[in-house]
Amino acid sequence: MVKYMKYVHVRDVLEGKYDGKKVALRGWVHRIRKQKTMVFALLRDHSGVVQTVIKQGSVSNQTYADADRMLVESLITLEGVAKADPRAEGGYEVQVDKLQVLQFAEEFPITEDQSVEFLNDYRHLWLRSRKITNILKVRDEVFYSSREYLRKNGFYETTSPMFVATMGEEGAEMFEVDYFGRKAYLTQTSQMHLEPQIVALERVFTLAPSFRAEKSRTRKHLTEYWHLEVEEAWCDHEANLKRQEELISYICQSVAKNRREELKELGVDYAKLEQVKPPFDRITYGEAVEICSKAGLDIKWGEDIRTEAEEILTRDSDKFLFVQFYPKEIKSFYMKHNEADPRTYRNDDLLAPRGFGEIIGGSQREDEESRIIENLQRIGDDPAKYKWYIELRKYGSVEHSGFGVGIDRLITWMLNLEHIRECVPFPRDVRRLYP
Ligand code: 4AD
Ligand code: MG
Repeated sequence: MVKYMKYVHVRDVLEGKYDGKKVALRGWVHRIRKQKTMVFALLRDHSGVVQTVIKQGSVSNQTYADADRMLVESLITLEGVAKADPRAEGGYEVQVDKLQVLQFAEEFPITEDQSVEFLNDYRHLWLRSRKITNILKVRDEVFYSSREYLRKNGFYETTSPMFVATMGEEGAEMFEVDYFGRKAYLTQTSQMHLEPQIVALERVFTLAPSFRAEKSRTRKHLTEYWHLEVEEAWCDHEANLKRQEELISYICQSVAKNRREELKELGVDYAKLEQVKPPFDRITYGEAVEICSKAGLDIKWGEDIRTEAEEILTRDSDKFLFVQFYPKEIKSFYMKHNEADPRTYRNDDLLAPRGFGEIIGGSQREDEESRIIENLQRIGDDPAKYKWYIELRKYGSVEHSGFGVGIDRLITWMLNLEHIRECVPFPRDVRRLYP
């Protein structure tokens, strides 16, 4: 085994920190080009890709033969001198004097121009592409900055069960599991189990998967997605909207600031994210229906704002838009009655700009026991099933609100991705359970 110096990261080389100096690098062969007496190998590590050159005569014969033999995705370590070179991708080239191939890769199955279906079947190998690597780095920043904002604002991170016994959102979209002979479901939302926790902690959130047996195969639906759910005591509808716009703005600002290189490589203008600032635009559900019917959509008061309608509402705008006060018949039983218009709840959907549509669902929660029972009876559900949830309203019932951010949707919007599955390491949708 050759003894190597301390390894540096590709990014450090590309930033010129080692110009003219000897470096040791380790990583994977990203691309390779062989000439008569030279092998050009792009070396990739987590931080980037740099050109290296192995010259016959500058290394031992055995080493040169190894370099000549290796294929893309081989695992290597090397030492050489880093030199600025405008012809090389990234502006630097490493002239190699020691090379060790730790694993000779077989012929890599992924080449250019393969179908989306093929690439998804090889997701375990495709993950290492520059595009997905960059997307995952943005994803990391979204997770990190969400937590950072919430911690700074006095929220505790907590957890909720994934196995539940009752409906959270849509009965038809629940995954049923056999729980030792009893029926259980994979949770659609952690909200119901966050609400009891605010009486202990006042401000809480959880970042966890939610499950929806969505048959709809759209660019925005997964069966398992990451859900950031926030729940806050002493918080009404108005304060809840403020919380949502502050959080989303904070995340966008953080990505613009800390992932600028990745955004550039992904072809996304960071300025678009820098512009995301409170206050967001607001309309009522009633106004939304009017706008959509004026635009020629066949929609009446009481019907849901579907994808097409959301697109009409946001297509000409660079700003996020709250749609608030939806009719009771199309929203959930736990939402707060709206005194100002008793047909509606004090709730909101947050729609992302440029036609993207919903990324958040939120509401003030109903804190009166009798109203929750009335709502359940109206939709033909049995209040007895929600005994524990209703019981919360008997002991120190506090005004409170919360919301759930579809994290994968937020990233899809940020990066203008064609499909939500692009931003998840191993996406799950109606057809996909492999790899
Ligand atoms: O609007 P939803 O159904 O709201 C709730 O679950 C509330 N209980 C949240 C809360 O108040 N704590 O879901 C919230 C968000 C949606 O706005 C959407 O962004 C995302 O979750 N979402 C999905 N994302 C990907 N794939 C799916 N199938 C999704 N379904 C919902
Ligand atoms: Mg919703």
